[in-house]
Amino acid sequence: MSEVNGKSLYERLGGHEGISGIVEDIWKNHTTNPEVKIRYQDSDGEEVKQKVLELFCMGTGGPETYTGQDMLTAHRGMNINEQEFVAVIDDVLDAMNKNGCGQQEKDEVLAILYSMKPEVVHV
Ligand code: HEM
Repeated sequence: MSEVNGKSLYERLGGHEGISGIVEDIWKNHTTNPEVKIRYQDSDGEEVKQKVLELFCMGTGGPETYTGQDMLTAHRGMNINEQEFVAVIDDVLDAMNKNGCGQQEKDEVLAILYSMKPEVVHV
């Protein structure tokens, strides 16, 4: 994971605590965003937030272990489209804005999320 001034992305996002705050706002955004909220209507919010927190932490260089399904398995059969994919990324960037994250950190997270597109869209 790339470092800036010797700090991992995980550290620059405020570690577990900082990322927990971002994930809370991601969930609020997803469940109120008209583009995607229907997708999460039957979800256990605490469960999904826990998995997303683990993945976000691990994927940015934290010591946490992700215990959920791989992205292909998690989204297979949902037939998620590009508009929904963009909406979810917008929700993440908005949550990062609300939590005071910097442009560099947003750019890095955007690149990580975009790289997962083939495992999420039309699978
Ligand atoms: C790069 C983008 C995405 C990432 C990193 C991501 C991440 C995740 C993770 C970690 C889980 C939990 C998997 C598990 O429980 O084992 C999950 C589940 C899910 N995701 Fe995504 N996701 C992305 C995009 C999307 C999009 C675009 C949609 C559609 C709007 C979506 C809808 C869902 C739904 C409905 C679930 C299942 C929730 C449940 O189990 O109740 N995801 N995603």
